Amino acid sequence: MSVPGSSGTADRGSPDRRKAVALALRFYGGELLRRRGNAVPALLLPALGNTCLAYLAPLAVAALVDRLAGGGRADLGSLLPYALGFGGLMLLGELLWRIGVHHINRTEARGIEHLAVVGMDALLAKDAAFFHDNFAGSLTKRVLSFAARFEEFVDTLVFQVFANLVPLVFACVVLWRYDPLLVAVLLGLIALTGFAIAPLVRRRQALVDQREAAIARVSGHVSDTLANMDAVRAFAAERREAAEHRARVAEQRVLALRSWDYGNLRIDTVVAPMSVLTATLGLLVAIGLTGGAPGVEAIVVTFAYFTSATRVMFEFNQIYRRLEGSLTEAAQFTELLLDPPVVLDPPSPEPPSGEDSGVRFERVAFSYPSGRPLFDGLDLDIPAGHRIGLVGRSGGGKSTLTKLLLRLMDVDGGRILVGGRDIARLRQADLRGLIAYVPQEPAMFHRSLRANIAFARPGASEADVLRAARAAHVTEFAEALPDGFDTLVGERGVKLSGGQRQRVALARAILRDAPILLLDEATSALDSENEALVQDALWQLMRDRTAVVVAHRLSTVVRMDRLVVLDGGRVVEQGSHDELLRTGGAYARLWHHQSGGFLAEDDTGPAGDRTAVP
Ligand SMILES: Nc1ncnc2c1ncn2[C@@H]1O[C@H](COP(=O)(O)OP(=O)(O)OP(=O)(O)O)[C@@H](O)[C@H]1O
Ligand SMILES: [Mg+2]
Repeated sequence: MSVPGSSGTADRGSPDRRKAVALALRFYGGELLRRRGNAVPALLLPALGNTCLAYLAPLAVAALVDRLAGGGRADLGSLLPYALGFGGLMLLGELLWRIGVHHINRTEARGIEHLAVVGMDALLAKDAAFFHDNFAGSLTKRVLSFAARFEEFVDTLVFQVFANLVPLVFACVVLWRYDPLLVAVLLGLIALTGFAIAPLVRRRQALVDQREAAIARVSGHVSDTLANMDAVRAFAAERREAAEHRARVAEQRVLALRSWDYGNLRIDTVVAPMSVLTATLGLLVAIGLTGGAPGVEAIVVTFAYFTSATRVMFEFNQIYRRLEGSLTEAAQFTELLLDPPVVLDPPSPEPPSGEDSGVRFERVAFSYPSGRPLFDGLDLDIPAGHRIGLVGRSGGGKSTLTKLLLRLMDVDGGRILVGGRDIARLRQADLRGLIAYVPQEPAMFHRSLRANIAFARPGASEADVLRAARAAHVTEFAEALPDGFDTLVGERGVKLSGGQRQRVALARAILRDAPILLLDEATSALDSENEALVQDALWQLMRDRTAVVVAHRLSTVVRMDRLVVLDGGRVVEQGSHDELLRTGGAYARLWHHQSGGFLAEDDTGPAGDRTAVP
């Protein structure tokens, strides 16, 4: 079954996945290095705190017991120092912990902040095509987890790896003084346990993977259903979706239990007897020390140290799982970074031409990665100040042409010139600064109406925003909204009608005030009355500007200087409306096929409401 939201995820163990995990480790390691002022105390202080609490304080108790057993004085005055020593060491341990946690908090909070910034920057640098292949929901989860999982990574290093290793080293030094055999037994059995459970931990990982995949299937279905709630309602599909959800969470339960039980029944059944064996052997060695006349202190210390140290055995599994878990999840993001963006600014960009806003397509070749060639040697010349209408069948490549001009994708062959300069030699921001673009599906941010318009030109004055809104006839409906221009438009603008969204997009283009206008079906959702009004504003705007206007509704483009008919990625005809009608070719056919101003459905794909030809 395909897992929504996990498309493009490399298989575990594949070279790409390994590279992604290595890259995640580099990011996380780099973060620790960058904040070493916090990271070093974060890693060491809790470990030293544990050493005080679990290994140094027992030494005081052992010395006390030894003294009592040796028949020393047992009055308060002579025993008090031991108790105070014990208390002092415990207090020191707690103090080290508190300072350590202070540094952990800063390491993690700042690391998460920085990683979130780095992650978003990397996404913002990605090509347009990247976002066609990856879902927004999945990317959101991946980039945020990449930052958030740093917390678990550091926690595991601090609380489980360092907090166990440093005290273990200390324990070995102390035990060595009694007898090196104690150290050999302790380290030997810990290592043996590690080897014994390594294959089990790996096998368990396969179960964990299955469980994680089941969780992804649940979340994929939940987000898919919630995102399409209107469709679910409209098709009365609530019960169907609920049943699907029940099936998916049941599968998740089965797989979760399987992986948890494996941990309990297979791994811990090996670890538990090994830990008992280690502790018991340690005690036996201690008893056997000094030829059967062991020091009381050595026995007490051995007992305390072995019980503390063997606990690490139970944590092997968890350490592996948590480090692997956090790195695997971070790798889901870093694998997106393995392929660097291809649409890049040139190393030494040319300045954009100040005056000339002419556009030329020269032998342009382009195909989508998944498809057959769309353009193969396309030529199109639009002198500065010319207004062309781009028409033709659905799927003919009109929107693709607009995206190539914006350099959202790079051409495979030929070149595109703006003002006589190859757009690949301009800085992307400079190129796009020359173009006011209204896409076929206008993008709306869940921000206020005003912010949505002003998006086109940050820093535009309130008067400019309102002027653009008036020209695009946004003002009419804005005033009826509950908070006027301060109304939030909802996710993707769901609180606006299709035509209202288009008018907001047009207001943006007007506010953008760029020398080239690129309108892709910018007025298709407007009724003819509103379109006529908006057209007036657009005509004003197009004066002295170069304009490319894509439209199915021929009435929208009939007055353009030139009409270009695109079909199958080729310019099949161009000329003015009258010329093309006289030629009696493809355009004339489209025009005559229009029933009352619209192209018949088999010519255009989408059909709209029917409007009279002006
Ligand atoms: N992101 C994409 N990945 C792969 N193929 C694509 C992508 N976008 C468009 N195509 C394909 O490229 C061809 C041209 O699409 P394009 O959107 O440019 O057509 P169009 O002329 O704008 O059509 P319409 O009039 O319906 O808007 C179509 O066959 C389409 O399926
Ligand atoms: Mg299109």
